[in-house]
Amino acid sequence: MATVLAIETSCDETAVAIVKNREVSSNVVSSQIAVHQQYGGVVPEVASRSHLEVIDGAIAQALAEAQLNWSDIDGIAATCTPGLVGALLVGLTAGKTLAMLHQKPFLGIHHLEGHLYASYLTEPSLEPPFICLLVSGGHTSLIDVQAGGVYETLGQTRDDAAGEAFDKVARLLKLGYPGGPIIDRLAKSGNPKAFKLPEGKIGLPSGGYHPYDTSFSGLKTAVLRLVEKLKATGEELPVNDIAASFQDTVARALSKRAIACARDRSRDTIVIGGGVAANSALREHLLADAAPHNLRVLFPPLKYCTDNAAMIACAAADRLNRGDRSPLTLGAQSRMALTDAHQLYL
Ligand code: KG4
Ligand code: ZN
Repeated sequence: MATVLAIETSCDETAVAIVKNREVSSNVVSSQIAVHQQYGGVVPEVASRSHLEVIDGAIAQALAEAQLNWSDIDGIAATCTPGLVGALLVGLTAGKTLAMLHQKPFLGIHHLEGHLYASYLTEPSLEPPFICLLVSGGHTSLIDVQAGGVYETLGQTRDDAAGEAFDKVARLLKLGYPGGPIIDRLAKSGNPKAFKLPEGKIGLPSGGYHPYDTSFSGLKTAVLRLVEKLKATGEELPVNDIAASFQDTVARALSKRAIACARDRSRDTIVIGGGVAANSALREHLLADAAPHNLRVLFPPLKYCTDNAAMIACAAADRLNRGDRSPLTLGAQSRMALTDAHQLYL
């Protein structure tokens, strides 16, 4: 039973959490969204500085809320890849320093492994094998989770990530940042069938289409063209219908591919992770598409979909229990494939 304190600073949330195996003792998230909103996206240098300002307080708060001392902590973890290097460095340096100071094992965690573990927090009996659909601001991947820490990537996006597509479409509709939650809200009063948009299939040289890969840049361009065409009519832009049609197209494409992976690999469970897992249309499509195949679909609760440190601590506790340790020389990396995460350990 490992109790882990984890720090997550890969993008625009400063998060610290304490998790006992799969049970959350505290979960502190300090969002910088308000700071970045005026720029319409995350400004890396501003993110690093903001992390620095609040990280000490967040660590103290996580311990206080859990009513624990350093002597109760078995290991310290921090997200070390992928993400903004300057932002990652703040949490990673804090984590390594605390591990040295309190003489605890240290673990660097792959951010996507964290997203993958979010469902374990509410479904503690979950065990591989299962299919994981990871949909965040920077990634869209379909992973076959064969055993703890053993991953095979089956599909990914050829261009924009799902969350990135939401953010870009929101920007072109002048809706603000981050785009996903705003589009999701507007889509509720829009007609998802109002406009037919391309799903972004990847053609194969042998004919047919790639069953698992996605492409969202064509969809984004199609929305841009549609907006230009509608604007030319001089009528008010049907923003809610555009939002609903776009969201429905993304959700349909992701759901279809996740179901195909589960069926082809004979897995009975699909686990969703990442900020876009919060999307209501994705939830509806997946549940409807999975039902005829008797597939179980697990969505994390909303607070564990977007960036948080509880999911990082949960992944770290599993690794600590398996005997993994990272060297204190571990650095931050802007990119790393999830399938290479084993390289983070001695
Ligand atoms: O996982 P996350 O918090 O950060 C990354 O690791 O990237 O994901 C953030 C992304 C953003 O692109 C945001 O627009 C999207 O998740 N997102 C959503 C929703 N909530 C957040 N996208 C669609 N629907 C939502 N409800
Ligand atoms: Zn994330």
